[in-house]
Amino acid sequence: MKKLLILCLILIIYACSTYKGLPEIVSDTSWKTKIIDPYPQQEDGVAEKGFNYLSYGDYVGSGLPYKLAKRQFGRSPKNVLQREGLNATLDYRATAFPAKNGLMVVNGNCFTCHASNLNGQVVLGLGNSFSDFRANFGLFANLASLGMSIKYGKKSLEWEAFEDLNYYLKASGKYIKTNQPGANPAAVLAEAIVRHRNPKDLTYTEDPMYEMPKYTIATDVPPLWNVKKKNALYYTAVGRGDFTKLLFQASYLGIEDSTAARDAVENFKHVVAWMKQLEPPKYPYPINQELAESGKPLFENHCSKCHGTYGENETYPNKVVSLGLVKTDPYYASYAVKAPIVEWYNQSWFAQSEPKSYFEPEAGYIAQPLDGIWATAPYLHNGSVPTLEDLLNSPQRPKFWERKGSTSDYDPKKVGWKYVSKKNSKGKWTYDTTLPSYGNMGHYFGDKLSEEERSAVIEYLKTL
Ligand code: HEC
Ligand code: HEC
Repeated sequence: MKKLLILCLILIIYACSTYKGLPEIVSDTSWKTKIIDPYPQQEDGVAEKGFNYLSYGDYVGSGLPYKLAKRQFGRSPKNVLQREGLNATLDYRATAFPAKNGLMVVNGNCFTCHASNLNGQVVLGLGNSFSDFRANFGLFANLASLGMSIKYGKKSLEWEAFEDLNYYLKASGKYIKTNQPGANPAAVLAEAIVRHRNPKDLTYTEDPMYEMPKYTIATDVPPLWNVKKKNALYYTAVGRGDFTKLLFQASYLGIEDSTAARDAVENFKHVVAWMKQLEPPKYPYPINQELAESGKPLFENHCSKCHGTYGENETYPNKVVSLGLVKTDPYYASYAVKAPIVEWYNQSWFAQSEPKSYFEPEAGYIAQPLDGIWATAPYLHNGSVPTLEDLLNSPQRPKFWERKGSTSDYDPKKVGWKYVSKKNSKGKWTYDTTLPSYGNMGHYFGDKLSEEERSAVIEYLKTL
């Protein structure tokens, strides 16, 4: 009996101390650093149309009744997107649009994740690193569903216009819960939703097409002004081929089948055009020009072979650096290599009809363009490093760091977010780099610079 108890105790301790469902780390050395070649893109999009679609479009398809949701979202004093009509008073992260049955509904838009407040101003295209997905969305889904059915009944227009949202909240709720503030589970969200779609014609299937991972790996959100330089999308460069179809992923929710998808995807051609004319925000504080000048050749010697050159003759190599070389947290790339969505995607309408897009995973991460890098803290694909100074001096990186959760806490000296180092993960907004997939190791390329050289490189980075 005693032995049994001890065994149970050991099992419980073991279960609590490991993270279930972590992907196996890729250690296969056959994955090499590589350059991604360009793929022909549709060039006839119109940026203005793209911005209108992002601001007013019905790409999410369903939502909460406007008359109910406007209380939640209708208090925005600044009309950030300069919108008209019902949308003029809504928060920039939400859009009111007519659902398929004509009822006005409200739902989040791309700017929920792809715009952020920085020093009191909303910067469109900047990734939002202040979202908090630690909440229980599964519970929220059940409450919303119950509330809607009590208030309107399941035979109402309101219910009909909400039903799709209800189903995808339920399908994804438990998978998008992260254990870290600021981390964004958009990749998992897409996986949780498309597994209920038949790859060939995108029609709904009750039985999921594949299993979901048990451990949620979430990432930072990349800035959209870099899309114009990229030959592949996402941190692992898994998104290849035609960009319009890749972007359309956020719209699975709103479409019934591949015929509807064909009509809807046309709009994303314009969204791509809008992204391609986006420019990063300029560094708003004084720059020591002399120091920055001296940082340029250092950058070109130590960094350009991966990140490219800037200024008059810009180059960008589109390089995916193998895990073995970059040595940053390996879990996200290791997961991507075996993720079941890759096979689903490559059999699907997205990959099988023109213009084609497809998924090609690599065991590594893309070396991002560094335009506007001063504004995009925290750094690395998992947002584990709060400032450029810490990124380029690895022994200095904090293990637990807390920011206030305020977007006006920018630190012009270390370049990134002001933070305090903590002894453990306690605190409301503490990033814990000891959690699997959120490690702050790797990218040791700044370590060999001297103190003076490092500050020159950082000064130069402010000018990009
Ligand atoms: C829930 C948050 C969220 C929403 C909503 C969202 N995205 Fe994203 N987006 C992300 C995250 C996180 C990534 C990075 C994923 C990765 O690299 O694996 C990303 C990546 C991208 C990229 C690739 C950028 C690059 O440099 O590789 C583009 C382009 C993009 N999103 C466009 C859109 C558009 C257009 C919409 C609306 C239709 C949208 N996103 C909605 C979170 C979101
Ligand atoms: C061998 C290729 C390589 C070299 C050399 C290199 N980097 Fe990187 N860099 C990468 C890769 C790959 C990533 C993305 C790693 C990740 O997200 O896990 C990255 C990420 C970064 C980031 C964070 C980007 C973001 O959006 O979070 C910055 C800033 C950066 N590098 C600056 C530099 C500087 C400055 C140097 C020179 C001192 C340098 N890098 C040298 C490959 C390289």
